[in-house]
Amino acid sequence: MKLHFLGVIGGGNRGKHLARLASKTGRAKIVAVAEPDETQMKLFQREFGLSSDNCYQDYKHLLDSNLRFDGILVTTPPFCHAEITCACLEKGIPVFLEKPMASNLEDARKIVDTVKKTGTFLQTGFNCRYAPFFEKIKEIVSSGQLGKILSIEWKEIITPFHWSTYCRYPSYNKRSVIGSWLLEKCCHDLDLINWLVESPCIRVASFGNRSYFKRRSDTPEYCTDGCPIEKECIFSAFKFYPELKENVKTSLPKYKTRCVFNSDSDLVDHQSVILEYENGVTVCFSLIPLGQNNTRQVYICGTEATLKGDWIFNKIRLYPHHTNEEVICDPELSYEEEHGGADPKIISAFLDSLDNPLNRPKTTEKEGWEAMVVGCGIDLALREHRVVDLKLLSGIRS
Ligand SMILES: NC(=O)c1ccc[n+]([C@@H]2O[C@H](COP(=O)([O-])OP(=O)(O)OC[C@H]3O[C@@H](n4cnc5c(N)ncnc54)[C@H](O)[C@@H]3O)[C@@H](O)[C@H]2O)c1
Repeated sequence: MKLHFLGVIGGGNRGKHLARLASKTGRAKIVAVAEPDETQMKLFQREFGLSSDNCYQDYKHLLDSNLRFDGILVTTPPFCHAEITCACLEKGIPVFLEKPMASNLEDARKIVDTVKKTGTFLQTGFNCRYAPFFEKIKEIVSSGQLGKILSIEWKEIITPFHWSTYCRYPSYNKRSVIGSWLLEKCCHDLDLINWLVESPCIRVASFGNRSYFKRRSDTPEYCTDGCPIEKECIFSAFKFYPELKENVKTSLPKYKTRCVFNSDSDLVDHQSVILEYENGVTVCFSLIPLGQNNTRQVYICGTEATLKGDWIFNKIRLYPHHTNEEVICDPELSYEEEHGGADPKIISAFLDSLDNPLNRPKTTEKEGWEAMVVGCGIDLALREHRVVDLKLLSGIRS
């Protein structure tokens, strides 16, 4: 078994989580981190037992060090993915890049070009492809049981708490940091749909706006500033963080108590999309912010059968048209890890590729780019109120 020496750039939530999973395999050792935020850096350093010399505020210093890196995990917010990833690739270091590939298409293009120029390997972090639920749907589609896919209805539904993080969290709450809400949150869904349809997406249209989370004059900037609607507000920080109630000193970052109506977020709060694929498949996709559960609901209509699935309930049902009887196709439950057990598998796939470059993971720069084209096309369609031709937008389809 080979031991791979890994660096992490962006030591926040995802950086720590993936580094933990990589270490747990016994096939990787975390040797350095680059993280500008001192608190995050200290937490990372302590957890992975790094010496201070191997903790850098600036990723350039990490890359200029004499340390050996067999691979680097890039887990920063999307606005700086391109600069950092291209610098790693130029040094010939294989990269695991968290989704979305970038916050805009120009940056994504730079990454794809640098992969081509340097011949260095890149994996895009579309972990949903490794989730048993979506693996099962792919297996059913590939088996031909649905016949030819005609149309797909797809929803991503998130809870008020999850939505509130998109209002409050500085790594997520602005277009300048993530590109668009749909690109950040739903690039997984766009990638999964591309994977299932197996054809290029050619045209998109989209509608959405920020109609609910608008500035209010009757609520303060922070929930903790004596809010008059605290009791009835479903987004109140007091509901999500009970430690605030106890009147004790808490280390909860201030941004977590930001009023969701008065935050500086400029993201839409709901959005719907229509997609057309070259092979004739049409897709309706909606991002819904205030559901009971965080889930993805899928309805695939094929010429031979219809498939219905609900991720959070781990339910996949097939309805063949000739019998119309329900066939239960639920995948095996795998809840011991976040994302239905997908994260350990995607990290193992990265280590497999470091073992041997012939071990191609499910998503490289190709799939990352294809999802970016769809995601950025959708954003353009939304902003310019028009149908966007993705062939024109992408320039070249690799
Ligand atoms: N695949 C998934 O399921 C999944 C889930 C959540 C987030 N993500 C993705 O992971 C990435 C990180 O998200 P997160 O939730 O960990 O955010 P986070 O804010 O917790 O962590 C990002 C870290 O990057 C650091 N950072 C910012 N600029 C940097 C720079 N120039 N150099 C080094 N570090 C820098 C920040 O200080 C922060 O600590 C995003 O691309 C996000 O879309 C993926």
